[in-house]
Amino acid sequence: MRLTIDDVRQRFLKHLGGEPGSVYASPGRINLIGEHTDYNGGFVFPGAVEQGMIAEIRPNGTRTIKAYSIDLKDYAEFSLDDPAGPKASHFRYIYGVAKEMEKLGVPVKGFDTAFAGDVPLGAGMSSSAALESCFAFAINDLFGGNKIGKMDLAKVGQSTEHNYIGVNCGIMDQFASVFGKKGSLMRLDCRSGEFEYFPWNPKGYKLVLVNSCCKHELAGSPYNDRRNSCENVVKAIKAKHPEKQIETLREATWDELKEVAGDVPAEDIKRATFVLGEKDRVLAVCDALEKGDYETVGQKMYETHYGLSKEYEVSCEELDYLNDIAKECSVTGSRIMGGGFGGCTINLVADELYDNFVKTVTAKYKEKFGKEPIIIDVVIGDGSRKLA
Ligand code: GLA
Repeated sequence: MRLTIDDVRQRFLKHLGGEPGSVYASPGRINLIGEHTDYNGGFVFPGAVEQGMIAEIRPNGTRTIKAYSIDLKDYAEFSLDDPAGPKASHFRYIYGVAKEMEKLGVPVKGFDTAFAGDVPLGAGMSSSAALESCFAFAINDLFGGNKIGKMDLAKVGQSTEHNYIGVNCGIMDQFASVFGKKGSLMRLDCRSGEFEYFPWNPKGYKLVLVNSCCKHELAGSPYNDRRNSCENVVKAIKAKHPEKQIETLREATWDELKEVAGDVPAEDIKRATFVLGEKDRVLAVCDALEKGDYETVGQKMYETHYGLSKEYEVSCEELDYLNDIAKECSVTGSRIMGGGFGGCTINLVADELYDNFVKTVTAKYKEKFGKEPIIIDVVIGDGSRKLA
């Protein structure tokens, strides 16, 4: 069942009292291809989904935020002047966003809020980016006269992850949440910030997520280690080629990677091999999409899965199994989506194979792991917006 404004408003009035506030929404995201490329200056291909976060917010004229998480039935009050902020991550995102908006010069004041989401938590669909973008968008509207541009709102979410949560993520999730557009995927060049909308209407195919229900958790996870490996390789290339302009693996070539093979741990080279391959795959997918060649798109998705599993090593037994079953069912493309370490696979499935795939993957996964995976049909939705 999809979350509605009424669900949130009822709880807002019950837990915060008084008059209604304004209501904002921001979505989670999928990503067709281009994984772990964002913090390497590469391309990503995300789209917003219909599921997201909804928050009702009412300024209260103080320096205190009073927040109620409807999903977790948890209430907290915290001051904008408290340098430590709340501990629980669901409140910390809100505090972090408010502080980052202050850094941009927005005169943020206290507010009362109740919020809820229908993006499954830990599914790799960026429920946290949805929450950050929702509050960044709302604070801009309520206190900032909408003066902060959308890319900066996305960056506020990203710096919240860096500075308050400890995940050194790239920009993809927050970008997708803020800029999403119904029916379109987006190709973002994470180095220049330029992007294009791609209408997504693959005739004869569906995009389906299969949630392994293994929680993916990036904070304190090897996510940051992967990023460090990429940075080590960049440093090694720079050391060999001081004249070269290189900030990220985006600028690295296969030859340079070979040259520095003895200068950094083998593991770092393996990680960078994935990133360089992924860079090529995103471009191949763009070409294939222009020709309506979904078989090639699918093949690249399988290659990405292989790379994420064997080179980047962010898979797990459950995700590899979901990928194997997709292959057995002749699904066109399948791979881990998002950061990895659990969460969903994203599958490009021909219409006529859909029913059999869903039935088979559900039964086989349950037989092996004792729990049913959750099937989510992807509908590409709009980005951050005011609802009421
Ligand atoms: C997470 C991060 C993103 C991106 C993906 C992997 O979702 O938040 O910035 O790095 O992993 O593509």
